[in-house]
Amino acid sequence: MSAYKLLLLPGDGIGPEISAEAEKVIAFLSQAGVAKFEIERGLVGGAAYDAHKVAISESDMALAQSADAVLLAAVGGPKWDGVPYNVRPEAGLLRLRKDLALFANLRPAICYPALADASSLKRELVDGLDIMIVRELTGGVYFGEPKEIVTLENGEKRAVDTQVYTTHEIERIGRVAFELARKRRNKVTSSEKANVMRTGYLWREVITALHKREYADVQLEHMLADALGMQLVRWPKQFDVIVTDNLFGDMLSDEAAMLTGSLGMLPSASLGAADANGKRKAMYEPCHGSAPDIAGKGIANPIAMIGSLGMAMRYSFDNAKAADAIDQAIAGVLGKGLRTIDIKGDAPSSISTSQMGDAIVAELKTVLK
Ligand code: IPM
Ligand code: MG
Repeated sequence: MSAYKLLLLPGDGIGPEISAEAEKVIAFLSQAGVAKFEIERGLVGGAAYDAHKVAISESDMALAQSADAVLLAAVGGPKWDGVPYNVRPEAGLLRLRKDLALFANLRPAICYPALADASSLKRELVDGLDIMIVRELTGGVYFGEPKEIVTLENGEKRAVDTQVYTTHEIERIGRVAFELARKRRNKVTSSEKANVMRTGYLWREVITALHKREYADVQLEHMLADALGMQLVRWPKQFDVIVTDNLFGDMLSDEAAMLTGSLGMLPSASLGAADANGKRKAMYEPCHGSAPDIAGKGIANPIAMIGSLGMAMRYSFDNAKAADAIDQAIAGVLGKGLRTIDIKGDAPSSISTSQMGDAIVAELKTVLK
């Protein structure tokens, strides 16, 4: 069995705590002979700033480029509020996405039956929910130029961000969505603001043409992003795959995450284009942030982080056995009523970050027996 080269970037806030739990799972999978890893470690975000005054060092970028996959926990926190814009913690994350060309961000929102009561929506609306949000990750307003604050002649300031998309960028993310839909419930909802934005207009035109040309077997609908935000809380089970741009995808995926009970549950995969051997650069990270308010308390939920490792097993390492086992172990501990505080709901008590990690490893042992 060849070893998977995995770069661990724990980052900031609760990052190191939840990373430690993912490492327990890595250690267990190795020991059980289900997978073999070659682990490197690096710094990103505020942690990198404290050490090197950058959001990620060149040597850690080189490690990311040569890894089979990157597993990143979270970046940012109030401690770095005053640092220069280009070295703020988020700049490290954005550089990884851009330099590794990870244009396709997969954010599955799955509601485990055991957690349906932790959702802010009624059980019947979310029980069994299974949505895949496909967010464009290297374009749009996150990276468009100009992006600046200038001082005008009258002394007033003017800030500009630029929303920009090309045919090629829209097509390649559209393809990812249609391909995923074919393996799921065969439906894609494409979302933009074609009624207001030129980028939205082009997005709709390109997705429509791509669908007609190559994916007519998949059901396609277009939905304006504001309406989609509304439909997500009205009747989320109408969706299968949602494909949208970088900014709308950022917002809608937080909304979808919350439907599942907690932001602490959702993993994500960010993938690049396949090379000649079918390999893709990839980074896996929880959808949640660094939660500085609870950092260091040992109460963060490690499930999104461990689930992200599971996505790495599936999408980068083609190890469905390990990926399925991780998913089953997570469902198993939840089924047994084990809860971190964010998903506690009406449960009588909650467990710590490391207890949750241990419980998942224990469950893995049974699942893999
Ligand atoms: C996310 C986060 C990031 C984003 C931040 C931390 C830069 O919110 O991954 O959803 O806006 O993309
Ligand atoms: Mg976000």
